[in-house]
Amino acid sequence: MRKNIVAGNWKMNTTVAEGVELAKAVVAKSSEVPASTGLIIAPPFTHLVPVAEAIKGSVIGLSAQNCADKEKGAYTGEVSADMLVSAGCAYTILGHSERRQYYGETDAKLVEKVKLAIAHGLSPIFCVGENLEEREAGRHFDVVTEQIKNVLYTLSAEEMAKVIIAYEPVWAIGTGKTATAGQAQEIHACIRKVVAEKFGELAEDITILYGGSCKPSNAKELFACPDIDGGLIGGAALKADDFIAIALSF
Ligand code: PGA
Repeated sequence: MRKNIVAGNWKMNTTVAEGVELAKAVVAKSSEVPASTGLIIAPPFTHLVPVAEAIKGSVIGLSAQNCADKEKGAYTGEVSADMLVSAGCAYTILGHSERRQYYGETDAKLVEKVKLAIAHGLSPIFCVGENLEEREAGRHFDVVTEQIKNVLYTLSAEEMAKVIIAYEPVWAIGTGKTATAGQAQEIHACIRKVVAEKFGELAEDITILYGGSCKPSNAKELFACPDIDGGLIGGAALKADDFIAIALSF
């Protein structure tokens, strides 16, 4: 059976000291969350080592927000999958719409990143989602299907079993506009169907998260949908109380 997960994407927020404090606050409240719900936090690169120390012995998993598309070597400014593992990460977000939109990440690059992450033992939290123009043109199913096919169809079943998918409509990220539970469910069901077309029954075991202005007030309705297995949380993950309240929304 697939696992429910709530993952906090801190993006480019907090200093190291603030991040360690936030991680400790999440740890302190994590005992309220049932074992059936996985908790993951994704701080900036600079925070990974001290945050790993702060969450040691807790149930919280550590994720990066990105990783390099190359193994190692002369790639100034990049951080490799191997480095993330050595810093204590078990996960990395990949293909976030902010990476695709502002840093030109293409599906071809994401194939390299996803494969390298998995080869080094990380579970990718692979993000897909349409922008407002694509949604208004009624192309959202096609856009997401294409993103899944271009990247995840290149994986073996063994590799795919490590992947967590996050559906994040770009128009809902940080805007306060959430997809309705109905809009989110229909696209999550579509994603699972597209995964099943290639990987069969494995699709039932893949965790698919919703992301985009998910907060304590709307998480319950979203998580009640049969194909929504949790959330990738941005803004609301910067407050331990809100993050844990969301994790208690199943
Ligand atoms: P948001 O971000 O919750 O602030 O909308 C979600 C995300 O981008 O992962």
